Amino acid sequence: MRVLVTGGTGFIGSHTVVSLIEGGHEPVIVDNLANSQPSVLDRVASITGVAPEMHRADIRDLEAMTAIASRGFDACIHFAALKAVGESVEEPLLYYDNNVAGTVTLLMALEAAGVESIVFSSSATVYGDPDSLPMTEEMPLGSATNPYGWTKITMERVLADLQAARSGWSVSLLRYFNPVGAHPSGQLGEDPSGVPNNLMPYVARVAAGRLPKVEVFGGDYPTPDGTGVRDYVHVVDLAEGHIAALDRHHGDPGVHVYNLGTGRGHSVLEVIKAYEEESGRPIPYEIVDRRPGDVAASWAAVNKAERELSWKARRDLHEMCADSWRWEQARR
Ligand code: NAD
Ligand code: UD1
Repeated sequence: MRVLVTGGTGFIGSHTVVSLIEGGHEPVIVDNLANSQPSVLDRVASITGVAPEMHRADIRDLEAMTAIASRGFDACIHFAALKAVGESVEEPLLYYDNNVAGTVTLLMALEAAGVESIVFSSSATVYGDPDSLPMTEEMPLGSATNPYGWTKITMERVLADLQAARSGWSVSLLRYFNPVGAHPSGQLGEDPSGVPNNLMPYVARVAAGRLPKVEVFGGDYPTPDGTGVRDYVHVVDLAEGHIAALDRHHGDPGVHVYNLGTGRGHSVLEVIKAYEEESGRPIPYEIVDRRPGDVAASWAAVNKAERELSWKARRDLHEMCADSWRWEQARR
């Protein structure tokens, strides 16, 4: 399939572009490079032997998107979004404009071009703080604790309403748990600017000696060791989940919702320990207050994706840490 990949030079998008090429598909990237580098294209070419076509454009630009979308696509995988939770609290209009208005504009362009198949990057954040675990796709959507989370809930709504009105559309909503790790080649990964907000990139910088210690947000949660528990999923597994959803649901009208996670949770202290083992570096930490808006524990029910997509995350926490560490070192 010829697939339009918005946000294709970003962290998850670039890994998915590699998986698309390896799966025999033809990805075409649209990205405004707000949070990625054009050098990703050379790295994808070095891994796959194929340099993907890329258009530098903003998904909010209807004229540009209409022109690009008309170049003959079977489907779209839509990653482009801003994703910094704290920034979304400070700049809510920017987040609603970029993520929600951007998605609406993209959908207008796709509709005009007759492209009716989309795979969308959603998040476990849409479940809020549910009463029970694991989180299943049937659970009602929760209440987000920040504007970023509300943009994901809103975009799911926009896509479901569109599908209800245009019954030919195939919409896959993929709810990622905590994507981490990097490509095993050491050539693709996540390089947040400034101080990382998320745990694993932060731990990586402490292991590398670039930050002094990890602040563990809360040691009194009702979890086995008192620290927060999350379902960390390797970004290459996640990328493969997109190909599985595309292959299964292209030309299959409806709204198809899947959790993408491993189905098991790890505490903050378990992540630190695994990273110490894989990097061979000491990782000092200190337990501090809880971070506002955090839930105690989150992990996915994964049987629906296994059953319907024949997709299952295969890489464990140690592999996630080892690949993250290889990427961290490759850039120094
Ligand atoms: P990323 O920032 O690395 O990638 C997003 C890409 O989209 C970047 O290359 C950026 O330049 C581009 N972009 C942003 N706004 C754009 C616009 N208006 N027009 C064109 N391009 C634009 O982030 P990521 O981690 O790869 O996340 C990809 C998607 O997955 C996002 O939708 C994100 O919300 C979602 N998601 C990510 C996580 C996570 O932990 N990384 C978890 C759940 C969901
Ligand atoms: C966060 C976002 C979520 C977003 C996701 C993207 C919040 C409240 N949630 O999820 O909306 O989709 O990132 O990946 O910001 N931790 C520490 N010290 C740190 C960093 C994190 O102890 O320096 C802990 C957290 O309390 C949590 C775990 O590590 O228990 C994972 O945190 P993080 O990587 O930020 O992911 P989430 O909070 O799950």
